[in-house]
This record gives sequence, structure tokens and C-alpha cells, in this order.
Amino acid sequence: MTRILAFDTSCDDTSAAVVDTHVILSNVVSSQIALHQPYGGVFPTVAKLAHQQNIAPVCQLALRRAHLTPADLDGVAVTVGPGLAPALEIGITFARDFAAQHHLPLIGVNHLEGHLLSPLLTRNSAQKTPLQPPFPAATTLGLIVSGGHSEFIHLKNFGDYTLLGTTLDDAAGECLDKIGRMLGLGYPAAPVLEQLALEGDASRHPFPLPLTTRHDYHLSFSGLKTFARNLITKLQTNQGGPLTRTQICDLAAAAQAGVVRHLLYKLTKILDSPDFAGSNTVRHLFLGGGVAANLYLRSQLRALARARRFHLHTPVTKRLCGDNAAMIALPAALQLSDRAPHSNLALDRQPALDL
Ligand code: KG4
Ligand code: ZN
Repeated sequence: MTRILAFDTSCDDTSAAVVDTHVILSNVVSSQIALHQPYGGVFPTVAKLAHQQNIAPVCQLALRRAHLTPADLDGVAVTVGPGLAPALEIGITFARDFAAQHHLPLIGVNHLEGHLLSPLLTRNSAQKTPLQPPFPAATTLGLIVSGGHSEFIHLKNFGDYTLLGTTLDDAAGECLDKIGRMLGLGYPAAPVLEQLALEGDASRHPFPLPLTTRHDYHLSFSGLKTFARNLITKLQTNQGGPLTRTQICDLAAAAQAGVVRHLLYKLTKILDSPDFAGSNTVRHLFLGGGVAANLYLRSQLRALARARRFHLHTPVTKRLCGDNAAMIALPAALQLSDRAPHSNLALDRQPALDL
């Protein structure tokens, strides 16, 4: 048993959670979406102020919901990066003071490692988790898709990761948000776009498949964004007025299909590579990040998992896909219980941290 109080203030959510190794005892997320809506994106100084106001009550609520006091804890974890520097600073300062006051060890966690391992979290100790063998012995890949990142990772062990491919420009969530914004769907637009896509016909405006001539596993979403902008302008000019609801739904479905097709194309390339042949055949895929909540992405990945005989592991609830502190507690618990090597992160904010 390793009880961790964790904090994440990397972007626009103030979150505190209490986790016992991989079992979530509480996970409080105070969202700032309403504050940033007028700007159509995250406004750093507004985020910092909101984190400052929310962090103490969010921490108290997390402890109360877990029915624990600071004396019951084994450690404190906090996101050190990547993220918005002024936002990260609030969480780090609060966690550092809390740990010092209660004589607890303080562990800095990489936000991306949190997303990557989020499928290991469970809501109770009876629930199964891939934390038990065969993982990490069998070949395991990770796919992180969020508003800031899109990465393919080879998980060799806890704390031992190799980046296989990353986006050269926009992230998958950012691309869907930007196309959604062009369609007038507000902020963040991607969840609304997913709903409208259910009513749309993706085949009416097929999106191009990016980076097919490159032999690496990198991703690029800015071409899809440009394709959407040109298409919307053309449709509006031709009909001399705004898009109809049917057109918006068709474009939403086509954009979502385009993003997912690109992710699966590159994932298939990895599965087919000589590095993952024979005894290295991929057996597990961990999916994390805000876009992991997307049911169309999940269904396409599930079909691929069936065809290629690997297990797809997704976070147990949609809330665990988006930013939350429970996912920050887990890598810290693994470190404290020595199941993962210490990552030696300096406990200072690191806005541009890699895995
Ligand atoms: O992981 P996350 O909460 O924050 C970052 O670390 O970036 O991811 C947020 C991203 C946003 O782009 C948001 O629009 C997207 O995840 N997202 C979705 C869905 N829900 C949130 N994208 C596609 N489908 C969804 N249902
Ligand atoms: Zn995130």
C-alpha cells in the first residue's frame, strides 16, 4: 500500500487526488473551461489566478473524500511539466509546502507519464488492472493523444520509455478543437464535434492522409486543419452563405475520421516494423489523454486490436482521459514502492519536459 496525495495544475484544470498504489480513493477536478471560453483557448494569467484560488479547497476536498488525514499518507506527488509555466508553479509550490509541513517525500511527475499509465488506475481494489503480469514483460506500446501532445511510445518498463513518434506541428486534440472552432462549436470544440459527427456522413468530404511518403512514425495534423479551412471557405463561397447543419455534421465526421485514420495508419506502420516482429510482437496498447475519450477513436482501435491480437487498455472512465491528479499519483506510487526507477526530476517547473 502506497498512499499518495497528488496535484496537477499543468493547464486549465486544478486537480488533487488520493490514490492507494493504483486504486483511486478520490479525484477532484476543478475545471476552468467557463473562464477560458471567452478567449477561445487557455489564457495563462487567468489560469494561474484560478489555480491559486482553487488549490487549497481542492486539496481539502480530495483528502475528505478519501477519508484520510495527512498522517495517513506516504508521499506527495506533483506535475512538474510539460505545461504552462505559471500554472505549474502554483501546484509545485503548494505541494512542496504541504510535503514539508507534514514531513512527507515529494515526487515530481511528468504529466505525459501520467497520461501514459492512466489505464492502470482502478476505482476499487477488486477491479482488474494491467499492472499485474504479463505487463511489463510483454511488448507494450503507448499512444498519448491530448490537446498538447500526440505521441507513440514504447513502454519497456515503468520509468523506461522510448519515444517512437510525435507530432511535427499541432496535437490531435488541438486539431479537432481548431476545426471545431471553424465550424462554430465553441471551446473546447472536440467533444461537441464528436457528437455532431454521429449525425454526419464522413464520406462526403474525405480528408487527405498526411505523411504517407515518410517512413518514420511522426504525425502531422496542420495539413488536416488547412484542408478543413479551405473546404469550409469553398462551400460558403459557392452557396453564398453559412454552412447548413447537415454540412457541419458531415465536416465534423470527416475531420474526426481524418484524424483517426492518420493515427491508425502510423500505428499500423509501427506494428508492421521489424522492431516489433517475432517475440517482440505488440501485445498491449495503452491509450491516454483527452482525445482517448473519443468513442470513434476507441472503436477503430478496438477493431485494430482484434485484427492484430493485442490488448487495448483505456482509462476506466472518461474523466481519467482528461487532465486529473489521480494519473499523477500512480507513477509516484510506483517510484516509492520501487517498481519504477526514480526519474531524477529536479523539482522545478519544466514547461517543455519530454518523457
Ligand atoms: O489531456 P487533456 O485534458 O489536456 C492536455 O493535456 O492537453 O486533453 C484535452 C484535449 C482537448 O483538445 C479536448 O478538446 C480533447 O482533449 N477532447 C476530445 C474529447 N474530449 C476532450 N477530443 C476528442 N473527442 C472527445 N470526446
Ligand atoms: Zn494532459
